Amino acid sequence: MCGIVGYVGHQKAEGILLDSLRRLEYRGYDSAGIATLSLENNLYQTEIRRAAGKLENLKVFVKKNPCPGNIGIGHTRWATHGKPTEKNAHPHQSNPITLVHNGIIENHLQLREQLLSQGLVLKSDTDTEIVAHLISAEKKNNHADFITATRAAVQQIKGAFALAILDENEPDIIICVKQSCPLIIGIGLGENFIASDFTAILPYTNQFIILEEGDMAVVKKDSILISNFYGIEQKRPIKFLDWSPSVAEKNGFAHFMLKEIFEQPVAITDTLRGRLSFAENRVVLDGVHLDKLKYINRICIVACGSSFHAGMIAKYQIEDLAKLPVELDLASEFRYRPVLVDAQTLVIGISQSGETADTLAALRHAQSKDALLLSICNTLESSIPRLCQHSAGTLYTRAGPEISVASTKAFITQIVVLQLLGLGLAQQRDQITEDNLTRQMNALLQLPTAVETVLQQDSHIQKIAQHFVSATDMLFLGRGALYPIALEGALKMKELSYVHAEGYAAGEMKHGAIALIDEQMPVIVLATRGHVYEKLVSNLEEVKTRGGRIIGILDENDDTLKSRCEFSIPIPIVTKSILAAVATVPLQLLAYHLANAKGLDVDQPRNLAKSVTVE
Ligand code: F6R
Repeated sequence: MCGIVGYVGHQKAEGILLDSLRRLEYRGYDSAGIATLSLENNLYQTEIRRAAGKLENLKVFVKKNPCPGNIGIGHTRWATHGKPTEKNAHPHQSNPITLVHNGIIENHLQLREQLLSQGLVLKSDTDTEIVAHLISAEKKNNHADFITATRAAVQQIKGAFALAILDENEPDIIICVKQSCPLIIGIGLGENFIASDFTAILPYTNQFIILEEGDMAVVKKDSILISNFYGIEQKRPIKFLDWSPSVAEKNGFAHFMLKEIFEQPVAITDTLRGRLSFAENRVVLDGVHLDKLKYINRICIVACGSSFHAGMIAKYQIEDLAKLPVELDLASEFRYRPVLVDAQTLVIGISQSGETADTLAALRHAQSKDALLLSICNTLESSIPRLCQHSAGTLYTRAGPEISVASTKAFITQIVVLQLLGLGLAQQRDQITEDNLTRQMNALLQLPTAVETVLQQDSHIQKIAQHFVSATDMLFLGRGALYPIALEGALKMKELSYVHAEGYAAGEMKHGAIALIDEQMPVIVLATRGHVYEKLVSNLEEVKTRGGRIIGILDENDDTLKSRCEFSIPIPIVTKSILAAVATVPLQLLAYHLANAKGLDVDQPRNLAKSVTVE
């Protein structure tokens, strides 16, 4: 949800800013802009370049109109206040101040009125411009220096904001401010970097400072001074990250999404590493304070989007294994309800980014009722794990950075860690036999190979997708743990192909959705063998009778059912506990290839952004 970057050092800022923004574009791509301070006739002046649309437009513009200087800031936007036009693109300026912003200034209307009544003319419709004027006004009216003026201004704003700010009169400083939106500082030699996340600046450094709530940092090329909004110095540790910069590159794949789909076997293997102890016959839940979970009597899961679907699967897994009741809430609903949780409730927040505003708020809400908090997260040191660290902790998925807006490898690894959690709780509560535990751990070990096998169907699935480029609607049907996979398949299809798609519990179809079926309607049926197989076969026949076009996701040897489908995608026969993860993969590929065949931008679907840091 908007990405911000900054650079101060001995190199030209322009190239570094544009390069870093390229790796942050997944956070928003409605417009982009950079600003640098350049020296001309012994005077510094601010150079601003902005363009509506994707970063590519800005690059073209900057090529024709270079942006000189060794200090600068940049922004890629997901529009909240104001249309995605050049006028509303960041950076915003109120001389001598220029800034970029991620987040929402909640009291901007009131501040806007205040500034307008002082005769100020606003150039944009954004909430951000207000902040530039506030700092500038502090400088002019109260003769404050840059740091003091910024401090005074941020005390007046409410909401979520990560800011990077330049002052033409103090040309060796970038001021960063963090409140409820992520912001990190990358440390270089005689140069420092600023970004919304690590991946943006990984090619330049692997040493980082993660700013905490209420931090304000004064960043120069050779120093970083952090204080709170009231000027009290704050010490923050330097962290090292051993990720290779190539994690944020496509490495020969046409899209990040395809690369990330193909990375799933490795992501699962990494996620399982060290967590299955066959010697001791137990799962190792590193990062989880298991002792605190001894007396819980129920679990509530809160999450959004694909992470919510992973939570739905976890309900089946955990209830079955640990015999604990599991409830599930969309984080955006949970946060505004007087929820009935207490110290014996474990509230699990699932989030790839660890920054999703609704999930974070839902967890805070649960915390205020004394619930224990645990997070399932893919992003180290992000806000959600930080919130949970003094409660039940975090179980990290180890999918590596996920750049594609549509979640794939993070989703599948969420399923894996939630299965591990179910096993760990089952063991702690004496609900699983030694034999069953060994069997379940072995099943997880089979998962990477099973996913590899499905990936070999890639070109087959691509051919199937070609047949549906003109589809306007689709239904996805599944039962049990494959019902959430039907929802996930439909979500992937909607967000990538802009096809109206619905996931349905197959047994529920006859209560309404069946009316939608005609000869035009593609219906994807997840119909592997299991205790509801016969029921699914009946559901499939109901669709067929009404002329629906069936794509079956079937066991690899199910020739009978194959003959009943227009198309089929065979998947390996696996145990129930890993079936949901395996069955996800063909649906990811189907959505990817359909969107690609329609010529759509798979990695950057319209209106979306990764890391939804606004409500
Ligand atoms: C869909 C997708 C989104 C996210 C959702 C939650 O492909 O990626 O639905 O799952 O925005 O994001 P996180 O997991 O970062 O909290």
